[in-house]
Amino acid sequence: MYSTNLMERKEDLKSSSGEVDNSSKDEFQELLQTLEQRLNWDGQRLIKYNGFWLLEVLFRPMLSAQNNFKAKDTDVILSTMPKSGTTWLKALTFSIANRRLFTIDQSPLLTSSPHTLVPSLEFNVYWEQENPDLSNIPSPRIFATHMPFNILPDSIRESDCKIIYICRNPLDQFVSHRHFLLENKIGKEADPLDVDEAFDMFCQGIHPCGPFWDHMLGYWKAHLENPGKVLFLKYEDLKEDITSQVKKIAEFMVFPFSPEEEEQGLIDHITRLCSFESLSNLAVNNTGNINGLVKNSSFFRKGQVGDWTNYLTPAMAERIKKLMDSKFGNSGLMFKI
Ligand code: A3P
Repeated sequence: MYSTNLMERKEDLKSSSGEVDNSSKDEFQELLQTLEQRLNWDGQRLIKYNGFWLLEVLFRPMLSAQNNFKAKDTDVILSTMPKSGTTWLKALTFSIANRRLFTIDQSPLLTSSPHTLVPSLEFNVYWEQENPDLSNIPSPRIFATHMPFNILPDSIRESDCKIIYICRNPLDQFVSHRHFLLENKIGKEADPLDVDEAFDMFCQGIHPCGPFWDHMLGYWKAHLENPGKVLFLKYEDLKEDITSQVKKIAEFMVFPFSPEEEEQGLIDHITRLCSFESLSNLAVNNTGNINGLVKNSSFFRKGQVGDWTNYLTPAMAERIKKLMDSKFGNSGLMFKI
C-alpha cells in the first residue's frame, strides 16, 4: 500500500485494464532521471521539480493528479504546507460542508480520521490508481494536497472550485515536521541528521514541499489576485480566534451559517468538535496508523503556537526572520515571531 520505495511503487502501476502500462512507466522513469535529487535529513529522497523539492515517493501520484484530476466548480481543495494545520482544516471544512447531514453527536469525525474523510490527492486518491473514477463522490467534494500552486492540476486553477490554503510560522512548522518524521521514521534505513543540519537544509529550502517561502508566496499571490478563488489562512489566526475564522471559511465555501444556526451555537459546536483536545482524545485518532506507515496519533502533538522556543535557539529564529524579510519582501506576507 503506502510503499516508500519508488521502485516498488512503479511495479504497482497498472493501467485501467489491469495491464502494466510500460509506456507511462518509461516516461516517468525518463523524467525522474532528468531531475536533481537530494536526501532529506530523515533519509527520504527528494526530487526537484518546477523549483520545488518534493518527496520522490509522492511524485508519481502528483503527476497522475496533474494529468487526470478534473476539478468541478463545486470542489473545495485544501492546500497546505505539511504540518501547518491540515488535519484541523480537514475536520473544520468537513463539518461545515456536512452540517445539514449529521448532527454533532453523529459526526463521522467521532469514528473516522479527518484524513479518511478528506482524502489527499497524492497520498490517497492517486496513490494506487493513475486515473480513478471520482464522479460518484457527492458534491461538494473536498480534497487535500501539499502541492505548490504552480504544480496543481490545471483544472483546479482554471475551474471555479475553491482553494483554501493554510500555512504556519516556519519555525513551528519545522519543529512539528521534525517530530512527525522522527516519530514515524519513514526513511527507516538512514540515520537522521541532527537538528542543526536539518535546520540548515530547511533554510536552504531543501525540505518536503520547500522552499517554504515559495510554497507560501505561490498561494499568497494567487490569493491577492483572486481572493474569491483562494482563501489564505494562517494556523496562528485560527488559534487566536477560531470562531471568526470558521465563519470566514464557511462564507468562502459559499455555505455561510444562517442567523438561526448561529443562534443555536452551531459554530461553537463545530469548533469544539474539531479542537485539538477533542480530536486528539478520540480513539480513532490516538490509536492505529494509516497503511502501516504513519501513526494516527502523530498528527496530534501539542497544537501550540511558539513551541519552537523549546527546540531552536534565538540565532536560528533570527536566521528565519532575515530569510523571511528577504524572500517575502514587500509582498505583505509576514509571520510574527
Ligand atoms: P504540532 O506538532 O506543533 O503540535 P498537519 O495537520 O498539517 O499535519 O499539522 C499537524 C500540526 O497541527 C501538529 O502541530 C498538530 O498537533 C496540530 N494539530 C492537529 N490537529 C489540530 C487541531 N484540531 N487544532 C490545533 N492544532 C492541531
